[in-house]
Amino acid sequence: MHELIEKIEELKKKRDAVILVHNYQLPEVQDIGDYVGDSLELARFSKNTQSKVIVFCGVHFMAETAKIFNPDKKVLMPDIHAGCPMANMIDPIRLIKEKEKHPEAGVITYINSTAEVKALSDICCTSANGVKVAKKMEKDEIIFVPDKYLGSYVARRVPEKKFYLYNGYCPTHMLFSREEILRLKGEFPDALVLAHPECRIEVQEIADEICSTSQMLTFARNNPAKRFIICTEIGLIHRLKKENPEKEFIPGNPNAICPNMKLNTLEKILWSLEDMKYEINVDEEVRIKALKAIERMMAI
Ligand code: 13P
Ligand code: SF4
Repeated sequence: MHELIEKIEELKKKRDAVILVHNYQLPEVQDIGDYVGDSLELARFSKNTQSKVIVFCGVHFMAETAKIFNPDKKVLMPDIHAGCPMANMIDPIRLIKEKEKHPEAGVITYINSTAEVKALSDICCTSANGVKVAKKMEKDEIIFVPDKYLGSYVARRVPEKKFYLYNGYCPTHMLFSREEILRLKGEFPDALVLAHPECRIEVQEIADEICSTSQMLTFARNNPAKRFIICTEIGLIHRLKKENPEKEFIPGNPNAICPNMKLNTLEKILWSLEDMKYEINVDEEVRIKALKAIERMMAI
């Protein structure tokens, strides 16, 4: 592994590349990242990077967001098959139908979506800023796509607005059940439950804190509790343990694995830098429209 890492470092310099890594990536991939973060942090970082090449270790919509910000840079994915099933649950035709059903409503689109869907939206949000975005939106009616659980989390915190939730969801976060979390709470009564807003509502209801992956890291660092039950993809536990060696992190479900996130490996990162593949491109007209929706979010 050491040799592989050395080769990656060498090629990274030669190509003037930066490696961006989502919090759900394999531990060894997180450890070689120039920057590791949640969707919002990675979007911000990609906007400001000076490197000519971005190797994005995450899923397709994340690399696409980096390309939307950086049309003149090469954005590479080590494995082109790393998609997000939730993002693929809505497409432009379905979104246009929703807009026709609710012509008065504005559209908030979770960043877990394709560039084409973003391009048809008023504004984007991530799991870290959905509530802020909805509060700031001028419209009283909001179509929220594609995640119904993040949408319902936001809607409960912005009761003055009417929400139309789309029926999308994350198959990985569906793997957390209220029964199992209650059982774990019984076994570890001193533990705090941290849940991602993509979890089912009945899981959110028994959580001590609902937040994005990076907000979980901040919460675990600053809270005096010594034990936490983590309801999000298990990749985050690597960083939680690394940053808080004296604390214990119990997975709410050890099988909550996003198979797409796990497609990226050190070997594939090396091949990506060797062959400059797989390049992400976005149609220019779509990119400009999608950029508007993302920039509105960034301005909040
Ligand atoms: P975060 O933005 O919280 O990292 O979430 C991204 C994601 O895909 C969650 O499943
Ligand atoms: Fe998509 Fe869920 Fe995987 Fe996140 S964990 S990338 S929402 S499938």
